[in-house]
Parts: sequence; C-alpha cells; structure tokens
Amino acid sequence: MKIAFIGGGNMAVSLIGGLIADGFDAGNLAVADIDKAQRETLAKRFSIHVRDNAAEAATFGDTVVLAIKPQVVKQVAQEIASIVQSRKSLIISIAAGIRTTDIERWLGGETAVVRAMPNTPALVQCGASGLFANPRVTSQQREAAETILRATGLTVWMDNEELINAVTALSGSGPAYFFRVMESLELAGQELGLSQQAAHILTLQTALGAAKLAMEGSEDIASLRQSVTSPGGTTEQGLRVLEERDIDAIFKAVLHAANDRAKQLADDWGGD
Ligand SMILES: NC(=O)c1ccc[n+]([C@@H]2O[C@H](COP(=O)([O-])OP(=O)(O)OC[C@H]3O[C@@H](n4cnc5c(N)ncnc54)[C@H](OP(=O)(O)O)[C@@H]3O)[C@@H](O)[C@H]2O)c1
Repeated sequence: MKIAFIGGGNMAVSLIGGLIADGFDAGNLAVADIDKAQRETLAKRFSIHVRDNAAEAATFGDTVVLAIKPQVVKQVAQEIASIVQSRKSLIISIAAGIRTTDIERWLGGETAVVRAMPNTPALVQCGASGLFANPRVTSQQREAAETILRATGLTVWMDNEELINAVTALSGSGPAYFFRVMESLELAGQELGLSQQAAHILTLQTALGAAKLAMEGSEDIASLRQSVTSPGGTTEQGLRVLEERDIDAIFKAVLHAANDRAKQLADDWGGD
C-alpha cells in the first residue's frame, strides 16, 4: 500500500510517525504540504517522499489521506478529482465535519471515502478514532484505513455517518473536557494548601491511573467507583457534591452542545 498525505500538520505527523513506528516502509509514504519548510522538516524527520502539491501527492498513492483543515477540503478535492477518478483511489478524510457525500461530489463521481475522527492523544499514540466507510469502500480498503488510524491508537467503526458527530462530541472534543476537569482538580488542591507542583502531578497521575484501571481491569467503571467509595468515607462525601450538582446532566448538555456544533459545521462547510 502506498499512502499519500495531503496536509503535513499535527495530525499527519502523528499518523506518519505511528505508521513508521509500526514498521511501515517510509518509502511507501508521501506528503504534500503547501509550506516548503514543513515539507523539508517532514522529509528530514521521517525520510518519506515529499510532493509540492496535492495533485502530485495523489499521483503517488492509491490511498490518499486528507489531513487538511475543513475549509480547504473542497478546493483540494477538486484539484485531485481527475487523478482519484482514474486511479480509483481510497480517500480517507480526517477533516472535522466534512461529509463523505460532499467529498464524493467534489471529487466528481463515485469514490471510496472513509471519514475518520481522530483526537489529539494521537500525537502520543494514544488516540481514539471513530470511522465511517461509504458503500463504495471495499473490505480491503477498510482494512487499509484501519491500519492507518490504528497507528495512533484505537479505532471504532460507525455504521451511520451521523454518529461521527457523536464521536466528535465525545472523543474528538473529549480530551479538552478531561483537561478542564484536571484544571479544576489542580486549582482545588492548591486551595487546600498543596503546592502548584504537587497538585499538578497528583492530578495527572490520578487521571492516568484511573484511566489505566478502567482500561485494564475487568470491572465496569461504576463498580470501580463503588469499590473506592467506602460508606461514610471521604470519597463518598466528594461524590455527593458531584451528584447534588447533577454531573450527568452537565455532561449530557456538554455532549449535546458539541454534537449540535458538529452538525452545524458540516452544513457550513459542506455546501457548493
Ligand atoms: N488536531 C486534532 O485534534 C484533530 C482531531 C480530529 C480531526 N482533526 C482534523 O484533522 C485535520 C488536520 O488537522 P491538523 O491539526 O493536523 O491541522 P494543521 O496542523 O493545520 O495541518 C494542516 C496542514 O495542511 C497544510 N495545507 C493547507 N492547505 C494545503 C493544501 N492545499 N495542500 C497541502 N497542504 C495544505 C497546512 O499548511 P498551512 O498551515 O500553511 O495552511 C498545514 O500544514 C483538520 O481537518 C482537523 O479538523 C484534527
């Protein structure tokens, strides 16, 4: 498989880095970025091929990853349309909010398109991506898409494209929710007298430890919570405050707001 990345920014760097770390041959990877300095950086860092523009990159690979901002997907798709049509390439778009039907239309015909929503922990190979394949994607192309996205973390397939908005709301935006909770814990710890440094490191290690326990243990999350909540103990008192303030209602509202915004962005960027 030869893979061409169009856009060599943060997400492309993490996907390329992940593929190479997984043993993928750098000689089968190419990237196009409009910034010459960025092209040189990528060539030096990964020893991959670089191309000056999107059309040249599309000529390199039978799998083309659109790793560009949503606002430029239409223009790039139109630039590579004839090449993609003649090569019958697989297109993988990681651009937030852009629907497969819009990408197909801009590419000028029926095209195999996978839409993926990764998240920033991909930068440390700990990402979570939701994937959707349009009906023209073959099982071999599905595997190719999964190989690419799995290079930066885990993947979950959606059978309905609308659910990519829910993925965006949960795991796409999710790191920021956890960062926000961590900021609050850090501040509250300092208010109780901990130094900033102590509050910071205790918060981070607790977040990591809780996630690891939940990932690696056999118990569900609620059971894990119950097992650290002794009756009359400190955790019970802390959790009581969260329940009184209806933490479920807060996160329901958070996810609904993000989901609504994802739909709105698809409408804003998807037109002709
Ligand atoms: N970062 C995330 O957490 C995340 C999560 C999920 C999805 N995504 C999606 O992933 C996509 C890429 O995000 P990113 O964070 O990697 O963005 P980024 O760092 O801005 O990377 C995009 C790169 O593409 C370049 N570019 C722009 N137009 C181009 C063209 N016509 N041909 C070739 N290269 C071009 C940009 O150059 P200039 O900077 O000079 O314009 C930039 O280097 C976005 O659509 C975003 O929605 C990102």
